[in-house]
Amino acid sequence: TDNYAVFGQPISHSKSPRIHKLFAEQTGQLMDYVAQEVPAENFTAATTHFFAEGGKGLNCTVPLKELAWQYADQLTERARQAKAVNTLARQADGSILGDNTDGIGLLNDLTVNHGIELKGAKILILGAGGATRGIVPPLLEQQPSALVIANRNVGKAQTIAADFAALGEMQACDYASLIDRQFDLIINATSASLSGDLPPLPAALLNTGGSCYDLAYANQATAFVKWGLANNAAHSLDGLGMLVEQAAEAFYIWRGVRPQTTPVIGLLNDERE
Ligand code: ATR
Repeated sequence: TDNYAVFGQPISHSKSPRIHKLFAEQTGQLMDYVAQEVPAENFTAATTHFFAEGGKGLNCTVPLKELAWQYADQLTERARQAKAVNTLARQADGSILGDNTDGIGLLNDLTVNHGIELKGAKILILGAGGATRGIVPPLLEQQPSALVIANRNVGKAQTIAADFAALGEMQACDYASLIDRQFDLIINATSASLSGDLPPLPAALLNTGGSCYDLAYANQATAFVKWGLANNAAHSLDGLGMLVEQAAEAFYIWRGVRPQTTPVIGLLNDERE
């Protein structure tokens, strides 16, 4: 049996072992996938140990994605751009490839699963941390008509806009500047949602027929998903679909087989209360 794992901290509530078990059953792959609590200071030792013991692939989540980016021997283009890695794969020659499947996971959930049009859309991202860095390049590739990054600390949003300027045009602003602006898609990439908080969002920020997407997910609706529902979003989604889609992409990198995501998303949705 081939061994896989997800490293992170905290990790006990991770749905990744369940998702990969469902993928393995569905595709008839013989593999084991476990969650392991790994604090940042142990990342290098734990990862080296994992691969030395014959491990085939790792997912890395908070707070390890930047460390995984540094660890990889080779990077895919999208991982290089994101400066973050969520998937490590041992290659035939023993070297470790780093990839980032978060961006494609988000795109697949938005466009394939929910039919949300990105080309020509006015898109707003809330927050300017690591999660935002991961999704800016794939979103710009879809040619939105505007991409705005709002953050409390506007300097961090400006830095991201400058870092990715070669890929397309972005604006950076604070929350107060959002008054009188409208967007077709608002993506919450702040870490506020998990503690039940919400950035200060003006009314009428969401266009009629627009959608909201929270990169975070929880068993109950997040504060931002509730905001979207209260503001008549056509779709107000949390990040469960993205989680399954990024996992499917990692599974494909490791196993060369593409699992079906719809039944797995359906099952996980049924399991939450
Ligand atoms: P991640 O890697 O998940 O993006 P991060 O790099 O710590 O995490 O970034 C967290 C983001 O959430 C930041 O943009 C932060 O805003 P500041 O840069 O201004 O601190 C944002 N954030 C966290 N709590 C928030 C809150 N209560 N309201 C608004 N933004 C918040």
